[in-house]
Amino acid sequence: MKRPVAYLAGIGKYAPRRVIRNNEFAKLGLDTSDEWIVQRTGIKERHIAGPNETNCSMSAAAARTAMDRAGVHAGELDVIIVGTASPDRLLPATAVDLQAELGATRAAAFDVAAACSSWLYGLIVAESLMMSGGAETILVVGTEKLSAITDWSDRSTAVLFGDGAGATILKRSKQHKGILSTYFRSDGTLAELLYRPSGGATRPFDEKVLTDKSQFIQMEGREVFKHAVRSMSDATDRALDGAKLTGAEIDLLIPHQANVRIIEATAKHAGVPMEKVFVNVDRYGNTSSASIPIALDEALAAGRIGDGATVLLVAFGAGFTWASMVVRF
Ligand code: ACO
Repeated sequence: MKRPVAYLAGIGKYAPRRVIRNNEFAKLGLDTSDEWIVQRTGIKERHIAGPNETNCSMSAAAARTAMDRAGVHAGELDVIIVGTASPDRLLPATAVDLQAELGATRAAAFDVAAACSSWLYGLIVAESLMMSGGAETILVVGTEKLSAITDWSDRSTAVLFGDGAGATILKRSKQHKGILSTYFRSDGTLAELLYRPSGGATRPFDEKVLTDKSQFIQMEGREVFKHAVRSMSDATDRALDGAKLTGAEIDLLIPHQANVRIIEATAKHAGVPMEKVFVNVDRYGNTSSASIPIALDEALAAGRIGDGATVLLVAFGAGFTWASMVVRF
């Protein structure tokens, strides 16, 4: 096993105050039910951002908590990486808005777009920057305002997503704790299983887009499910191999929180019993790139990650993208 180069020095999260429970969708005119949503996904409620809550404001709140816990101030940040599938604006990156909000004047700031895998992709890029000597203190955020890019009249997607942000400070590891192994992959041939057809440069906004609502997320749910289980399994195998560990040696598995059935299949494949799996999809829905850092923050707060614990993080998302990491705390 390699000596860790980088460790997670502080974690923070932000969840909007407004919570929408499953039974509220019927009031919004959707032909769905609490029973259907819970049975198929495990989701009971999700946080939804208000008009004044942006990715910049949510990620700044999460980042400030992470920085406080790591004992780092904004002027020390060398790099800010923001993972998001729902950027506040198409240009410039959400990361530069966050930089301005935090007053991190020394930092280089950029976004990573790998959908739900973005936060893990961001950590992997950050670790590489540290290996190359390009940075010592890096803020990596996952943030989503998915409610802004979801068609609230489409029951096949509206019930799945939530908003929020999670952040971590990555610092150079001086002990034996930190990132033990990483893995990431993509398969662009699957892009149209989960995408936003319009709003980008190939189909810019016009009146037709607004009529056919093609700026919103469209998804082939059943196909996504199949590939999700396959890619999450591949990712857990590779991260465990990289760290020379088995599932039985993992203290906590924190998978991307999209669907409890995908989480259960992933845990079974990895050989991690469900009592060692952190699940909060019931209270957050799928917050895409924010999902793992929010779960990590909650797992730490709940005392589920002790000193020296070995944690397996694994994600999949649109693209397709998938990624994993073993971290010693
Ligand atoms: N309420 C009631 N019925 C619904 C709803 C709903 N909200 N949504 C769909 N249905 C109906 C469908 O219309 C279909 O009806 P039909 O049989 O009459 O055609 C029926 O329920 C079954 O639909 P399926 O799509 O086969 O249901 P499935 O069991 O696959 O569950 C789900 C759907 C929950 C979307 C599942 O496929 C899934 O979780 N897929 C993965 C999605 C995912 O994780 N996406 C996030 C990717 S990460 C990222 O990058 C954002």
